[in-house]
Order: sequence, then C-alpha cells, then structure tokens
Amino acid sequence: MAGGVSFEPPRGMRDFYPEDMVWRNRVFDAFRAAGEAAGFKPYDACVVENYDLLARKAGEEVGEQLYHFFDKSERHIALRAEMTPTLARMVAARQKELQFPLKWTTIAQCFRYERMTKGRKREHYQWNLDIIGEDSVLAEVEVIGAACDALRRMGLADSDYKVHVSSRKFLGELLAGSGISADKHAQVFLALDKRGKMPDSEIAAMLGDGGLSDAETEAAFAIMETKDCSASPELTEMFRLAEVAGFADRLVFDIGVIRGLSYYTGIVFECFDTAGEFRAVFGGGRYDNLLTTIGGEATSAVGLGFGDVVVTELLKARLGGETVAGRKGVAVGFMFPDQRDAALRLAAKLRSQGECVDLALREQKPKKFFSRAGSSCAAKAVFIGPDDVAKGSARIKDLSTGEETEVAL
Ligand code: HAM
Repeated sequence: MAGGVSFEPPRGMRDFYPEDMVWRNRVFDAFRAAGEAAGFKPYDACVVENYDLLARKAGEEVGEQLYHFFDKSERHIALRAEMTPTLARMVAARQKELQFPLKWTTIAQCFRYERMTKGRKREHYQWNLDIIGEDSVLAEVEVIGAACDALRRMGLADSDYKVHVSSRKFLGELLAGSGISADKHAQVFLALDKRGKMPDSEIAAMLGDGGLSDAETEAAFAIMETKDCSASPELTEMFRLAEVAGFADRLVFDIGVIRGLSYYTGIVFECFDTAGEFRAVFGGGRYDNLLTTIGGEATSAVGLGFGDVVVTELLKARLGGETVAGRKGVAVGFMFPDQRDAALRLAAKLRSQGECVDLALREQKPKKFFSRAGSSCAAKAVFIGPDDVAKGSARIKDLSTGEETEVAL
C-alpha cells in the first residue's frame, strides 16, 4: 500500500507486464493468423453494451455474472460477458445488406463476476470465430478446424488436447424418446450441464424442479451414458468431414457436453487438455435462433469462444522453460557522452532499414552493456567507443554466434 492505494489490480483483473505480454502475443498472434488463414474477417465493438441485450434467463450463469451500472443519463449499461449477443445485434442491424454466409472474427475483452478458480478470471480476452447463415455442418468443421490450427501455431502438439463434441438436437431426440417433452428440454440441458460440477443428487433435484418425474429423471441420467452417436446424421457427417479435413484424431463424441448458454440449438463442443488438468480451452456450437430472439430475421449460426487464460496456463505447462520470445533486433550502446550522436545516428539508420533497435539512453561500461543486451533478447549488439567514431565504423556482434560484422557510422 502507498498513500492508501493498493498496488494490486481489482480482484480477478489482470496486469500484463512485458514478460506476460510475450505469452499474450504468442496467443493473440496465433488467433489472428489462424482466423486469417481460414478466411475470417475481423470486426470489433465497444466493450459496454445495453444491459437488456446481455441479461438472460434465470439458471444461466453468465446472466448472473454481469458487471452492470447506470450511466449519468440512467441508461442501464453492462460490460460484455461474451461477444455473441453483440455480434447478433450487429448482424441484425445490417441483415439486408450483408452477404451470407459471413465468417467474422474478433478478440474481445470480456468481464464476468465469476467465482475465482484456476483458469477463471473476472476479465479475459476471448477469440471469437462465427459463421452466420450456413446450415451445413461444414460450418462447425471450419470453426473447429481453425481453432485446432491456432493451437498448433501456439506450439501445442495434436495429442495435447481433445475437442469433445455432442449435439443438443441429438440429446433432445433421446430425451423425447424417453417421453420427456420438448418444453422441458431447456431446463434439462441447464441441469445436466452441471454434471461433474455438483453432486448428481442436486442435479436430480433441479430436474425435479424442471417438471421431470422420478422415472424421467432416471431416464435422463441413463441417456447421459450414451457412447454411440451413429443415430445422429449431423454428428456422423461432422466426424466424416473432420476426417477429410485431417483433424478427426482430435475429436471425441461426448454426450456430457451440453454448454451452459441457453441459445445453443444443435452441435455443441468444448476443448480440453488431454491430461484433464485444466478448464475448457474453448467452447462453442450452433445457435440458429439467436437472431430471431433479438428481433432479427431467422438465420443459422455457428461459433466458438476461445479464452486466453486457460490456453496460456496450458502453454506454460507444456512449453515451460522454452524461450518463447526468440532473439531479435539490435542493441546499440556507447561508452562516453561524446559517442551519443554517433549511436543515435546508427540507430536511426538501422531503423530506417527495418531493424528493431534498442538504443541505450546513456553511456555505459562495455561489460554492463553486453550483459544487459544478452539478457534482453537482442539478437545483435553494437557498442560504440571513441576509436570507432575516429575510424568511422563499428562492429555489430551476433550474440548467439559471436560473429562480428563491420558497419559504417
Ligand atoms: P463460453 O463457454 O462461456 O462461451 O466461453 C468460451 C471460452 O471463453 C471458454 O471456453 C474459456 O476459454 C473462456 N472463458 C469464459 N469465461 C472465462 C473466465 N471467466 N475466465 C477465463 N476464461 C473464460 C461463450 O462465451 C460463447 N459466447 C462462445 C460462442 C461464440 N458461441 C458461439 N459463438
């Protein structure tokens, strides 16, 4: 504490020091490159939204986790907890002009007043990939394929993770087959999504509250043991297309994946590390009714959200000691104030040639300069002394090989 002000950010919020930015950039660079490689167009929106757009039905966690406030004109405003409602609003606003299917992507900072656990913060960046206006499961295959590509670009092995896939439509059909009527499915989905996070007895109680008889509750639990999805044409086709695309080895059918958001209507998926140590790396699914829910025209949609928190934990665990930044750029230093102009001139010249140059701001002893350059991730270093200025050239040293090349001052 200094003058009564804490040096800590508010609980659950994060500061990014330069060493943290090395990881964040690795993750964001992979997000952007994978999105671009798969033909997604970037978009963005403001981090505050109208509360009414984001507020949700009871039983859904994100609705209860909203940071919200009234502005000075009494507008009810919230910090976005996710990007999907905003995306739906933006698409609905231009539904007449836009060319469908759309493939859009963004990295959005999101805020949720969560109970703080490993992998869950109250603020995170979430990469979103969405395809709006496509009914075929090729849309699911494209978004999941792009997310797998991002994981590869970050440096993870294909064996490090699995994408667990199911379908609410398929689960709905199984429930209907047991006599559980469609009007009860939304409640059943929310309750069954809690499996593994709370005792089955509590879930059974939630199902009872949702109007299920004891026999129906028992049937719902039995359905959760389903291991075969060949009765679902959409899942079968999705696994087949993933085979064609070359990432079927990373997919598993898992009836237990339901997702906590109520807008999903079809295939749903969630990615976990293979060892099962971390929370979900990314999650998404088909949400064909969201545009109509907010007043737009009926349009099919598929998308995913991929947070930066869990994947960074996973990368640190898997890549650990590996230097993630890589050496680059030139450190330029000088011995006495008299060589300052020469150092600045050289820095300007190198920068104009496209080099990244870290210019020392004051004179230094050579030993100190080289030790600092070595630990600062520079690839090369040049130190200018009075003799160099006198002869009009200096030597640039490659810090990994020790090789020196002459450069004119
Ligand atoms: P979600 O499952 O709520 O889905 O979040 C997606 C991902 O965001 C999670 O898998 C996780 O990586 C990350 N995430 C969520 N909450 C937190 C948190 N409190 N701390 C750290 N990371 C977090 C959605 O938000 C959907 N809107 C995704 C989507 C896009 N569906 C269709 N399009």
